[in-house]
Amino acid sequence: MKFLNFGNKKNTSVIGVDIGASSIKVVQLKKRRGVAVLETYGELSLGPYMNLEVGQATSPPAPKLAEALKDLLKEANVTTQKAGVSIPFSSSLISVVKMPVLKDKNLASMIPIEARKYIPVPISEVTLDWFIIPNEDKSLPLDDEDKEDKKKTETKKETSGKKIDVLVVAIHNSTLTKYNEIVKAVQLNVGFFEIEIFSAIRAIVGRSITPTMVLDMGAGNTKLYIVEYGVVKTSHVINSGSQDITQTISKSLGVSVSKAEQLKRKFGIEDGQSDDTIINSKEAIVLGLNRVFSEANRVILQYQQKYGKNVGNAVLTGGGATVKGLLPIAKKHLEIDVSISDPFSKIEAPAFFEKVLKEVGPGFAVAIGLALRRLQEDT
Ligand SMILES: Nc1ncnc2c1ncn2[C@@H]1O[C@H](COP(=O)(O)OP(=O)(O)OP(=O)(O)O)[C@@H](O)[C@H]1O
Ligand SMILES: [Mg+2]
Repeated sequence: MKFLNFGNKKNTSVIGVDIGASSIKVVQLKKRRGVAVLETYGELSLGPYMNLEVGQATSPPAPKLAEALKDLLKEANVTTQKAGVSIPFSSSLISVVKMPVLKDKNLASMIPIEARKYIPVPISEVTLDWFIIPNEDKSLPLDDEDKEDKKKTETKKETSGKKIDVLVVAIHNSTLTKYNEIVKAVQLNVGFFEIEIFSAIRAIVGRSITPTMVLDMGAGNTKLYIVEYGVVKTSHVINSGSQDITQTISKSLGVSVSKAEQLKRKFGIEDGQSDDTIINSKEAIVLGLNRVFSEANRVILQYQQKYGKNVGNAVLTGGGATVKGLLPIAKKHLEIDVSISDPFSKIEAPAFFEKVLKEVGPGFAVAIGLALRRLQEDT
């Protein structure tokens, strides 16, 4: 548990709540003179609520999650109920659907019909959301403050023949029911639920015109997607996450999972560290990471072939991106420029916290993106 409180209690504050597979993250922001200011943040591991270790992926039922979230809000001194909450990428289906150019109203009734072809579950079991992918030859809404983009991208006159790309997002109704149960128990005032990758993009990529790959390294899996002009062009899940590094350390050194997690957090996989035991498992760890990075390279190549454009850079995010020594390995394996996300840099915070916020930042990207949107929609 980490927490801070910079003391402001006024109720213009909002929170972003990211319920991840291994921990819940919360970030509280407020707006001061048009700038997002950090008020407090915190993280609570879910493992101990489920008889598992810190850092391991789990799937607690709604009442347990509500209990954990209440504990976190209390310990992080959160002072507002106004929230944006993320939905796991794994509970969603995202597809790009080609549609004729239609008026918004007609599009809304056509999309569920078209979506049947793309979504492998009955439409009655999901809730659909959608927005039009801006045409690249049109001028793009580049202003971050522009709230009009989603759904409201102007539809041109209905013309026959022409097609537009529509990003259709389906969320399982059972997931929404579970999340509604949690937020009701915690008495949150939820402005929206958002699939975590859209939140992360807001916090770390924005509307960069260079196609950017994001690798969100969670506990149980790694989400990998390519973003261009703020729009997700392709997305994948790799079933390998940072808990696999912990498992590898545990097995190859013959230590408990909890000890392995401590070693991973303390030393990472950096060369030249004082504890030379962990380095003995480095080869096996790199082998595991190789799978993730070669999958990333394959997706990059596929994108370049499909769109005739290069992916300019990759950003590593999620708690798994904070493992020391990971960046040089990623740089060696990925064929493009790689960096680690720094989402707190979008937010004003006391200079004193700069170093620690940079270190823990990747784990909070989703929560920050959620809080930024809630702030934008509320003020
Ligand atoms: N300081 C740290 N050093 C090294 N590893 C860390 C650190 N903090 C977290 N991790 C690792 O990151 C993983 C958790 O990352 P993250 O919090 O992004 O996952 P999550 O959001 O719970 O999962 P998901 O996104 O898959 O739902 C854990 O396996 C944990 O061991
Ligand atoms: Mg996560």
